[in-house]
Amino acid sequence: MVRKFRDIKELSTAAVGHIIDIARKAVRNKGFCTIVMAGGSTPRLAYELLSSPAYAKNMPWRNSHLFWGDERWVTSTHPDSNFAMAHKALLAKVSIQPKNIHQIPTDATNPEDGAARYEKHLRGFFHTKPSAEMKSLAKDLSVPCFDLVLLGMGTDGHTASLFPGSSILAEKKKWVAAVPAGVGSPPVARITLTLPVLNGAKNIFFLVTGRVKLAILDTILTRPAEAQKLYPAARIKPAGNLVWLTSEKE
Ligand code: 6PG
Repeated sequence: MVRKFRDIKELSTAAVGHIIDIARKAVRNKGFCTIVMAGGSTPRLAYELLSSPAYAKNMPWRNSHLFWGDERWVTSTHPDSNFAMAHKALLAKVSIQPKNIHQIPTDATNPEDGAARYEKHLRGFFHTKPSAEMKSLAKDLSVPCFDLVLLGMGTDGHTASLFPGSSILAEKKKWVAAVPAGVGSPPVARITLTLPVLNGAKNIFFLVTGRVKLAILDTILTRPAEAQKLYPAARIKPAGNLVWLTSEKE
């Protein structure tokens, strides 16, 4: 489904409504919710809105667990850090417990070690939760089932830190992978969730603005086979709900 908005403010307001609805429903059903935060700049306004009293009071923070879809290999206070952006826009302003903030570690020895540590953390978290939180794609190919994954998309069709032509797009077993430096902006090394994990989600919401990204979305919707070869975002096909929140205005 594609929802079109006049501008980023309208888009972000809708995103916050969906986040709260999905979180409240998950907490009602199973006592907790799991949300994967998007990086980049587009989600910033949504995070700021969610931190405002009018919205924050409706979010079940006590039972909400936040994760990240990807992270740049920088310190967690660096201006390029996806965590730092979410912390400034949201986390520092709401009553979420530190144990519910599942940050991708960038203080490991190297990105590979950071990816392995995050995967171990995710497996530990989801294996202590009801089995319904684990979706078995096939024998021993279980993946977590996040209640909500928020994603952005680059103007090259990347999403999270899954870039065009990356061998990580073919990853079927790992939940988390290290991305070598040299791609993306900033062109630093990164850590990213893999496609099987992202696609295991109950709900995936893309937040995309601008004509270039909307042209990519048009290809994804109208020429899926071609898009699949060109754009990693075209490979986001959750068994659950996929919604594109869009605005032509940046
Ligand atoms: C990252 C992001 C990335 C982002 C897109 C869009 O770490 O770079 O996770 O996937 O969502 O690059 O970024 P903008 O929202 O800044 O256009």
